[in-house]
Amino acid sequence: MAAQIIDGRKISVEVTEELKKKVEVLKNDHGLQPGLAVVIIGDDPASHVYVNAKEKKANELGILSRKIQLPAETTQDEVLKLINELNNDSAIHGILVQSPPPAHIDEEEIILSISVEKDVDCFHPYNVGRMLIGDENGFKPCTPHGCMVLMEKSGIDPTGKHAVIIGRSNIVGKPMAALLVQKAKGANATVTICHSRTQNMTELVKHADIVVAAIGKPNFVTGDMVKEGAVVLDVGINRVEDASKKSGFRLVGDVDFGSVEPKASWITPVPGGVGPMTIGMLMKNTIVACCNINKINVG
Ligand SMILES: NC(=O)c1ccc[n+]([C@@H]2O[C@H](COP(=O)([O-])OP(=O)(O)OC[C@H]3O[C@@H](n4cnc5c(N)ncnc54)[C@H](OP(=O)(O)O)[C@@H]3O)[C@@H](O)[C@H]2O)c1
Repeated sequence: MAAQIIDGRKISVEVTEELKKKVEVLKNDHGLQPGLAVVIIGDDPASHVYVNAKEKKANELGILSRKIQLPAETTQDEVLKLINELNNDSAIHGILVQSPPPAHIDEEEIILSISVEKDVDCFHPYNVGRMLIGDENGFKPCTPHGCMVLMEKSGIDPTGKHAVIIGRSNIVGKPMAALLVQKAKGANATVTICHSRTQNMTELVKHADIVVAAIGKPNFVTGDMVKEGAVVLDVGINRVEDASKKSGFRLVGDVDFGSVEPKASWITPVPGGVGPMTIGMLMKNTIVACCNINKINVG
């Protein structure tokens, strides 16, 4: 039986409409406009694509977007000085520095310098801790939060299910586990995390009701690894050469869609699955930041 497709593009349109309403309430009832500052250092082409997409989505929602482009040779002190200015700028509620910065920049120090109230990527240890203890008023990390919303909007309840996450990065794997294991509606899963040192990974994945693939290896998860009826969320975004494309490449996920889709009950495609949700969740965090800083609740 073919899987139902979790259409991230469609769901992200729905999320955008919900967020637009919140921005309207902030504007009309409170005279506030959420503001997001995105700092980009250097000229990595992929980073520019991401930053432009963030700017476009902010504009669509009526969120003030301030893109700050710095040359590749910008020093650590110059970046820290800019962050300090943005921390004290009342028009800005969210700050992010696009990753990866040039090699001479200490990303950890940059993350720690962003005001915890404006850390909309949810990378600061304070916000990671709040998320881990299940504080519903704090930020949630964008990509894992996007995965949770995809399940919620598709009517998939992880309660009591065994979720196996492949990948333990700080931006996807670990926070995904933290969100799924929460004692909260739409979570309550039993969670296993796999990584490159996991010995019996295929066995673990075979027992999973929910598989989250966040590895960064094209088509890594194949049909023979997946249980019949599993929900499969593919976070991976990998470029593979494709001479038939003008760009010379195409995007594929970490899941071999062709062999997994016939066995899964639900599956996210790549592109058009998890990817479109990440920016939406960033906008959501910017609205949360604006509300929290101004001690307002717009629901
Ligand atoms: N959709 C989105 O918006 C979005 C956002 C972020 C990332 N992504 C994509 O998601 C993927 C993962 O990103 P990431 O930042 O989490 O990557 P990452 O930091 O490179 O982490 C990859 C993880 O996969 C594990 N891994 C690698 N090879 C493995 C193997 N053979 N068996 C088991 N585990 C293995 C690694 O284990 P070790 O820890 O042991 O090395 C690591 O924990 C990438 O394709 C990335 O482009 C998408």
